[in-house]
This record gives sequence, structure tokens and C-alpha cells, in this order.
Amino acid sequence: MTLPKISVLILGAGGREHALAWKCAQSPLIKKLFAAPGSDAISALAECSPLDIDDGSAIAAFCAQKKIGLVIVGPEAPLAKGVADGLRSKNINVFGPGKDGARLEFSKAYAKEFMKRHGIPTARFEVFTEAQMARSAAEAKRLPLVLKADGLAAGKGVFVCKTTNEALGAVTELMEHDSLGEAGRTVILEDCLTGPELSVLFFCDGKDYRLLPASRDHKRLKDNDEGPNTGGMGVFAPVPVEPALMERIKTEVLERIMKGLAADGIDYRGLLYAGLMLTPEGPKVLEFNCRFGDPETQALMPLLDSDLVEIALACADGKLKTVEAKAKSGACVCVTLASPGYPAASMKGLPISGLESVGKEALVFHAGTKKGGKDWLTNGGRVLGVTALGSDIARARDNAYAAVSKIAFEGMQYRSDIAARALALK
Ligand code: AMP
Ligand code: GLY
Repeated sequence: MTLPKISVLILGAGGREHALAWKCAQSPLIKKLFAAPGSDAISALAECSPLDIDDGSAIAAFCAQKKIGLVIVGPEAPLAKGVADGLRSKNINVFGPGKDGARLEFSKAYAKEFMKRHGIPTARFEVFTEAQMARSAAEAKRLPLVLKADGLAAGKGVFVCKTTNEALGAVTELMEHDSLGEAGRTVILEDCLTGPELSVLFFCDGKDYRLLPASRDHKRLKDNDEGPNTGGMGVFAPVPVEPALMERIKTEVLERIMKGLAADGIDYRGLLYAGLMLTPEGPKVLEFNCRFGDPETQALMPLLDSDLVEIALACADGKLKTVEAKAKSGACVCVTLASPGYPAASMKGLPISGLESVGKEALVFHAGTKKGGKDWLTNGGRVLGVTALGSDIARARDNAYAAVSKIAFEGMQYRSDIAARALALK
């Protein structure tokens, strides 16, 4: 199929968007690549414009002016605000669901009801809007228990509680002290599941889906899954998954999601991310994200052999059936380098050394950096995603850590055990 070249606009500014821009820039379908707001690193690949990405009208006006043929939405916030709906109503191709699909991420209560309605395996749960009711239920519930804020909370809305007191404290914080504002006024109380986690990301056009390789994020700040939760300290892919388990994931999770979307009239065109826990009873969904994972994307784009622009356009157009999403052989590992104080705070403006000495063996995706004269400076909590391919996980890991060892900034934090457990190194 020969498609005409198009201009593509990527919304977002982080490491995920840098990886998306890197992949799009390789597409023969690209006439010109734009990003908003983008970053200094992304500006090497795309023309960046300082638009407010939650402002649908400003984006639509930009698309008309620049004759954008496809918008790829990175983060969840614009999707939750209905930016994709606004663009679609003006006949602009968008990769990213409308507000109805994004609700699977921005309301955990809605996502849980969706799963219950459609027989998608997930932890047993109850939803509360009254603190007193939530407290009584928490007191009666077997420990450990999990308490979740309903709304978007940037990774701060989930409490795995070992004691009733912890749970009661979290109820008070969320529902009475409004620690997360509106996002925490409704809470979900659910059973605590056990097992390894698996990120299953797939392209979706409402009718068909195409899987990316299964990946695994490392959410805790420190080695051995210790320390506070973060946005993600590193990823590897593919996670070796037995064919029989993959089959269960397809039939019990993915196919039911697709049927559920159709039954509920949600024409989901974008990426859907199912965070699974592989429990002794089988795969269960912990959460949905309505967009690419960060840093999963940094490890998945280098592994994607097919053309991202072609796939994203096919999703936007409802024609995913006509394209494949092929993965390269081998594996990819991404190690996050975070600034001192992360995740509670981030130190900006620290000079980063050694980037120029990283050769072709690794890709460095910039999550939070900016240019200061000739130097790269830290400019956020997660600073860099140092990523490498290899013929297997062990080689990809060696390549990634070899590159990490060349890079330094004051107080740099990273985990030394990304993908280690997959290799039984720990
Ligand atoms: P979520 O944002 O819902 O994915 O939750 C963040 C993290 O909390 C997950 O990656 C899990 O490690 C943990 N978690 C969430 N729900 C549960 C559950 N029901 N049982 C055990 N751990 C959970
Ligand atoms: N890495 C987890 C997320 O993107 O939500």
C-alpha cells in the first residue's frame, strides 16, 4: 500500500515522546514532524511549538495551519479532557482515544465496573464516596488490602496497606484532607493480589488490536523493589511469557476488552495499556492506561520493526486490520536516570556529563533535560532513559548499563537491577 506523506504532530514533552519522535522520524511516511510542546532533545527530530496541549482549540488551529495529517497524543491529561474528540470533530486524524475511552484510565471506579460488566478478571472491589463507609469496609476487610483513588494521581493514588490503620489513614488523607483533590474523593477498596506484573500494550482501532511485546516496568525507586513508588525506574521487553499464558491473556483479557469496548459503544482508537498481575489463579488486570507507558515506550519503540506512523494512522482511520505490528528479534532494556530527591522533589539545572561518549550501542531518551549553552542540564525528576537493544535480555542489559556508566550528574539515582530478576541474577 502506498500512502501519501503526511505531517505528524506529537503531543507531550517527556521520555516517552522523545522515543515516539525518534521512531516517527524513521518513517518514510513523514513529510514533516512537529511536537508540542516538545523539548530541547525532541527539537533535534521535530519542530517544537510551545502550545498548551490541553487546549483542544489551540491544537486544532495549529493542525489547520501546519496541515497536520496525524496527531499522536502522548500523555493522558489531554485525552481525559477530550482533546482527541475535539480534533476528530474537525476531521483531524488522531491516535488516542476520546474521553469515553480515556475514562478507563481517569476513573478507576469506571474501569473496575467495565471489567466487572465484561467478565475481565480483576481484583474484587467496592467503590466508596463516603469516608465513613470506606472506613467500616476497610476495618472488615482481610489484610493486606489495596486502596485506590478513583482519579488521575500521577502514580500517587494507590496504597497497598498491610495494616488497618494504614488503610484508615489513607481514607482520611484522600477523602477528608483532599490530599489528591477531586481525584481522591471517590475511592476503591480491593483485594490485594500477588504475582509478577506484566505491562501489555496494544494498538487498537475499536475493532482490532495489535500487540507490542510484553514488558515489565520497575516502579520502586530502589533495587529489590524497595523505596517509594515512582513513574518507572526501568523496563525490559520482551518479558518471556509461556505460550499457554499468552493465550489466556488473549482470550480472558484482550478479547473481552475488545468486546466490552464494542458493547459499550467506545470507538477506541489509540494505544491501550493493560497493567496485569500474573496471579496463581491467572492473569488479572490491575489498571488500564489510555496511552503509551513511560518508560515502557522507550524500550518498545526500538523493538518495533513496523512503521509507527503507518500503524497510528491505521488506528486513527479504523483500518488496523490492514497493518501488522512486527517486533524485532532480541530484547531491549531501558534504565531511568533520576535526579536527586526524586520522586519527592527534583533538582533542576545540574550539568549532565558523558552523553557525547555514548555511541551507537545505546539510545538515550531525554525525559527531563534542557540545553544550557553547550551543556545538557537536568530539568525534572526522571532525567534520562538509557536504552539498549541486544540479541537477548542479558546483552541488552549489559549494553544499557555500559552506557549508564558513562553518564553522570550530581546525585544521579538509578537502579542497578533492571531486568536482573528475569535473568535470575538476584
Ligand atoms: P495501578 O496504578 O493501579 O497500576 O497500581 C500501581 C501499583 O500498585 C501496581 O503496579 C501494583 O504494584 C500495585 N497494585 C495495584 N493494585 C493492586 C492489587 N489489587 N494488589 C496488589 N498490588 C496492587
Ligand atoms: N510506566 C507506567 C505508566 O506509564 O503508567
